[in-house]
Amino acid sequence: MVVLHNHYSPNKMKFTQLTFLLGSLVSGAILASSSQTPLTADDYVPLHPHLEARSRELLARYPLIDTHIDLPATMRTINRRPMDAIPRLNISHPGHFDIPRAKKGGLAGAFFTANAPCPGAYGRDVGPDFLGLTETVQHVLESIDLVKNTLAYYPSLLTAARTADDVRKAFSDGKLAILMGLEGTHGLSNSLSTLRMYAELGVRYVTLTHVCHSSFASSNGGGAGTTGSTIPPVHPGNGLTPWGVTLVKELNRLGVMVDLSHTSDQTARDAIRHSVAPVVWTHSGARAVHNHPRNVPDDILELIGDGPDKNNGIVLSVLFSTFIDPSNATVARVVDHIEHIASIVGKSHVGLGSDFNGISLAVKGMEDVSKWPNLIQELLHRGWNESEIEGVMGGNLLRVMEEVEKVKEELKDHSPSAEIYEKRTDLPAHEWGGPNMAYLAPDVVDIVVEQKRRFRDEL
Ligand SMILES: *[C@@H]1O[C@H](CO)[C@@H](O)[C@H](O)[C@H]1NC(C)=O
Ligand SMILES: *[C@@H]1O[C@H](CO)[C@@H](O)[C@H](O)[C@H]1NC(C)=O
Ligand SMILES: *[C@@H]1O[C@H](CO)[C@@H](O)[C@H](O)[C@H]1NC(C)=O
Repeated sequence: MVVLHNHYSPNKMKFTQLTFLLGSLVSGAILASSSQTPLTADDYVPLHPHLEARSRELLARYPLIDTHIDLPATMRTINRRPMDAIPRLNISHPGHFDIPRAKKGGLAGAFFTANAPCPGAYGRDVGPDFLGLTETVQHVLESIDLVKNTLAYYPSLLTAARTADDVRKAFSDGKLAILMGLEGTHGLSNSLSTLRMYAELGVRYVTLTHVCHSSFASSNGGGAGTTGSTIPPVHPGNGLTPWGVTLVKELNRLGVMVDLSHTSDQTARDAIRHSVAPVVWTHSGARAVHNHPRNVPDDILELIGDGPDKNNGIVLSVLFSTFIDPSNATVARVVDHIEHIASIVGKSHVGLGSDFNGISLAVKGMEDVSKWPNLIQELLHRGWNESEIEGVMGGNLLRVMEEVEKVKEELKDHSPSAEIYEKRTDLPAHEWGGPNMAYLAPDVVDIVVEQKRRFRDEL
């Protein structure tokens, strides 16, 4: 992408049109030119060569799960027909992830994120009420479809996973377990029905915000490519809205994990207070190690861990150089974040969430998915023992997933929330009656007429 950008960015429009016109004819050439800045598995240099064999042994014995890879977004960013990318995934694909590199790195499981850009990114103003956000649902569904078709294309290499047991089975079968998360509740189009359908399709976490606020929750903004400042609040208290509290309860009931990466600090506190299940940060570091709004501050880390007053959640550490430490973006510095977080929440509440394909530059030594042995080596180098490392790699996350599944089981008799977003103006859907209400039975017409009269009187 960098190469392309330099070539064509003097006139972005022209580039877009060019890609559009030439379509699949040039897409091969585009991919070839992108790979001029190769991040191939062959670049791997062990960080601690004497620990290389040991790190491989651990990767073979225990599943390493990455909670955040934006692969569908990359497939959609560079292809007019995103499904054309699928066959390339087993050869080489631009960005930080493809199947050969995942295998080299010993990756066992990954959450691919389904998302839609925040509306502001494409010039859409949703106003103070967040109304009219429907195209996000198309983007999310198309991303999910892309993941499902990728899974269908590679039945011997990849397998869909929804539960901790699914991940364990995939690992023992030697297949890469693929799970899905939704990044940002703007992708719900203000609807819990949408959430329930995403859950049926396999979405297993929802990040309460991306870099924009939603009707449910306040974001910290300050994502990749920004100055690292937070965004101005729009909701009173800058946390979860009452509607967002309803969402968190529905997530608990559905067994979908509540992800707090990207959210405002108050959203995180509110969600921890209201969630009866463990919460997760799928791709964040420690703010005390590097002061950035995408990292978790100590006073919020204090709410996580073992013990009756704590949420039993997990912080999965990100690899983006900007969040880790721009002046020392290295694997060692990533482990500084992990160790700081662990010093507060405990070693059984930390894990790994790269943000690969959602970042411009991963830290040195962890440039792509093929480099995971380096991170294991650094943990070994610092004296983490086998069971602790097993936990960081994936064991801690699997425990959290099991607890979230248990909460779902405990709440199985609870009804789905019937709540709708109070600011919606499209329900009841009186205009669905057609010309002269010709689609409606007479008793339904009577109700519509009566409702319209009452609503008019109320105004
Ligand atoms: C994926 O690539 C590997 C290594 O080249 C090859 O052995 C395997 O047959 C390929 N599988 C598919 C489904 O393309
Ligand atoms: C980078 O961070 C690592 C881990 O804390 C440290 O050992 C190293 O000295 C740092 N390097 C620089 C140049 O600050
Ligand atoms: C590893 O460390 C943990 C404490 O974090 C301890 O409970 C466990 O017994 C240790 N395991 C081994 C094999 O030393």
